[in-house]
Amino acid sequence: MTTVGVVGASGYTGLELIKMLLTHPEFVLKYLATTTGDTVIEALHPSLVDVITYPVEKASIEAVAKSCELVFLALPHKASMGFAKDLIEKGVKVVDLSADYRLDLDTYEEHYCEHEDKAHLDESVYALIEYYREDLKKARLAAGPGCYPTATLLGILPFIPYIDENAPLFVDAKSGVSGAGKKLSESTHFVTVNDNIFAYNPLKHRHAPEITEKIEKVHGKKINVNFVPHLIPATRGELVSVYATLKEDINPLEVLKKHYENDMFIRIRENPVDIKSTAGTHFCDIFATKNANALFVNSAIDNLLRGASSQAMVAANLMCGYPEGMGIPTIAYVP
Ligand SMILES: NC(=O)c1ccc[n+]([C@@H]2O[C@H](COP(=O)([O-])OP(=O)(O)OC[C@H]3O[C@@H](n4cnc5c(N)ncnc54)[C@H](OP(=O)(O)O)[C@@H]3O)[C@@H](O)[C@H]2O)c1
Repeated sequence: MTTVGVVGASGYTGLELIKMLLTHPEFVLKYLATTTGDTVIEALHPSLVDVITYPVEKASIEAVAKSCELVFLALPHKASMGFAKDLIEKGVKVVDLSADYRLDLDTYEEHYCEHEDKAHLDESVYALIEYYREDLKKARLAAGPGCYPTATLLGILPFIPYIDENAPLFVDAKSGVSGAGKKLSESTHFVTVNDNIFAYNPLKHRHAPEITEKIEKVHGKKINVNFVPHLIPATRGELVSVYATLKEDINPLEVLKKHYENDMFIRIRENPVDIKSTAGTHFCDIFATKNANALFVNSAIDNLLRGASSQAMVAANLMCGYPEGMGIPTIAYVP
């Protein structure tokens, strides 16, 4: 058994973490917190009425350290590192869902803000499970990848050795609105999103440098990623379409099948993928095909689960010595 807490319990990813913790065989929920606390979890999330009643406190480092062996930080960037640095020193394992520990210092400071915990940045493990599984087993700090980088990297990493680095690589990504968190803004307003689809931050989104940095870490190649995200009128789900140029004649589906033959949460599909089949699950579905030297890679995830909370839960499983799939959802919200 491992005692765990969630800081950021009122948010979207916080709710997903709590739902998994309710049925997890080894993690015992001991602490929930938000900025202000002084409430109960079912008041913040009415879907939990008659399911769980649990006090929500004002987030405090001392309270986490007293009650938890591991904590999930489901907080905005900058807020997370304020908690993580002291918690690690107090012996609490930390799984952070924000961008604070995902990137090298220079990349982080260029795209986010000044880093306030440089001392722990080097030891954090990027929790893209299929690529950092062994490192996570020894980690005391895991950094959850961004949702778009998760779907993109799982699709494209197997093909990097076969891709022409001098030709442009385009990532066309589409996300449900929960990817932006619970705070309302003009671009996530119902009237803006409903019956609509639009690109935002084309070629300037800060998930592009994350994708570039991680491709370089895994394959030692710096590839310029042209990343264009779109908002779609769906609550959850992310669909990524990658367009690249091959320098070798390969069978794309065979490459994927071989690459992921031992990975239980990657499903290689024979046809283009869709977001609904992964909604509510930790699966990443991937399809790929080619026309001469043009490569198309198509991946789908649930941004709140594989793109955030279930990936964080798998990281926690590995950090605590439990099986990777323990307590991890596999049944999709279909129809
Ligand atoms: N949504 C996604 O699909 C997704 C995917 C991958 C990664 N992420 C990352 O995961 C993190 C959480 O995302 P989210 O979508 O769950 O956001 P969210 O719905 O906006 O929730 C954020 C939570 O953080 C709490 N919070 C903010 N500042 C705090 C502080 N100083 N102390 C304690 N609690 C504080 C908020 O509590 P209050 O209610 O008190 O304000 C709220 O519970 C973000 O860093 C996000 O980038 C999200």
